[in-house]
Amino acid sequence: MKKMAIVGAQWGDEGKGKIVNYFSKDFEWIVRFSGGSNAGHTIYYKDKKYVNHLLPSIMPNSNSKGFLGAGMVLDLEKLVEELSILESDFPDISSKFYIDLEAFLVLPWHKEEDEIIESMRKKPIGTTRRGIGPSYTDKVSREGIKFYYLFDESLLMNRLEDIYYLKSSYYGNKLKTSISEVYEFLIKARNRLEKLKVNYASAIEMGEVFRSTSVLFEGAQGVLLDLDFGTYPFVTSSSCMAHGVSSVGFSTFELDDVYGVLKAYTTRVGEGPFPTEIFGEEAEKIRRLGNEYGATTGRPRRVGWLDLPALRYAKIRSGLTGLVITKSDVLNGFDQIKVCTNYEIKGKIKDTPSSSYDFFVAKPVYKELKGWKNTSDINFLKYLSFIEEQTQINVDYISYGPKTEEMCSKNHLILNIDR
Ligand code: IMP
Ligand code: MG
Repeated sequence: MKKMAIVGAQWGDEGKGKIVNYFSKDFEWIVRFSGGSNAGHTIYYKDKKYVNHLLPSIMPNSNSKGFLGAGMVLDLEKLVEELSILESDFPDISSKFYIDLEAFLVLPWHKEEDEIIESMRKKPIGTTRRGIGPSYTDKVSREGIKFYYLFDESLLMNRLEDIYYLKSSYYGNKLKTSISEVYEFLIKARNRLEKLKVNYASAIEMGEVFRSTSVLFEGAQGVLLDLDFGTYPFVTSSSCMAHGVSSVGFSTFELDDVYGVLKAYTTRVGEGPFPTEIFGEEAEKIRRLGNEYGATTGRPRRVGWLDLPALRYAKIRSGLTGLVITKSDVLNGFDQIKVCTNYEIKGKIKDTPSSSYDFFVAKPVYKELKGWKNTSDINFLKYLSFIEEQTQINVDYISYGPKTEEMCSKNHLILNIDR
């Protein structure tokens, strides 16, 4: 039974939500394995837009079910909110979601800490302020709250007291939410989730089920935001690569395909290196045409040309087996398109960055290609072929609009090219 992962091949916002949604009809389970409500996965269903931050991008009318894995950090306020929005259009949809109780929670304190730390940093990261970094920090420093504590109220209270004791020694009276407010909030959210009939199951309990059926693993953010191998410290605090499936008990060797989702150009929100970034009128034009504003924070995204050295890096780091290109239509009508083919790093030309350090010192080397009128134009096919030749990985699917059905395979595209 097929196992597939979909990850972002750039700095996130490549359009993974839509791509997962497109493939979801062929899968029994859609599994999120990392990140939290920093993600914003936009899907359309019957012309209505839904933005999922935590929930896996299942097709609402299908039989597929969603699993929220232990590698995630869960903000229960957002989780309840998201489920409630879906429930109003699809009653009982909550019962299609399963949560691993080993997952850690994002507490109200974590969001406060995210604000405080960002405002104190000499070089802010530009986080989404969703408490992601502080929640993962607490997990690693062994001060986190696991979901299952909510079902043992005295354990929960004890842990909150211990954690608050430590936190208040670092933050003094800067934290505004009291222990009892955090406790009340968590219990209320737990009760609400029970009412919605969300299911709980560990990856241990799901092992047999997952292995005997089809599973699509939905990555969050993108390879270049990965905690270990992204442009550190301008990264998120979790694994953005296919390797993250280990938190659901899988090995990458069990994956039949790992698709990297790639925008036809590049965007980034937040701070950090971005070798092919462009400014001025051209940047503004792409931002406007591509509606490049964050799905989670509404911030304008930084924009730039396609970056092939970064793509080669993502391919190797995350073991990509194929690509899905999105937003190809945004560049329709441009006379010339620039593509970065190499980096100049301290006077040497490189195809692929050797380490995340290279992104900080890279000077992009560009090639100009002819633009296309629309995605049936032969020049668009040439753009795809150029990417494939240069990176030795196939572009298997093309997305040319926000709707789930605005997507085709490359073979289909080739048959419909205007010659
Ligand atoms: P954090 O994940 O909120 O800590 O933010 C760390 C960095 O990752 C910032 O540059 C964010 O803008 C970026 N980031 C986090 N989540 C996403 C996402 O889903 N899409 C794009 N960028 C993201
Ligand atoms: Mg996004």
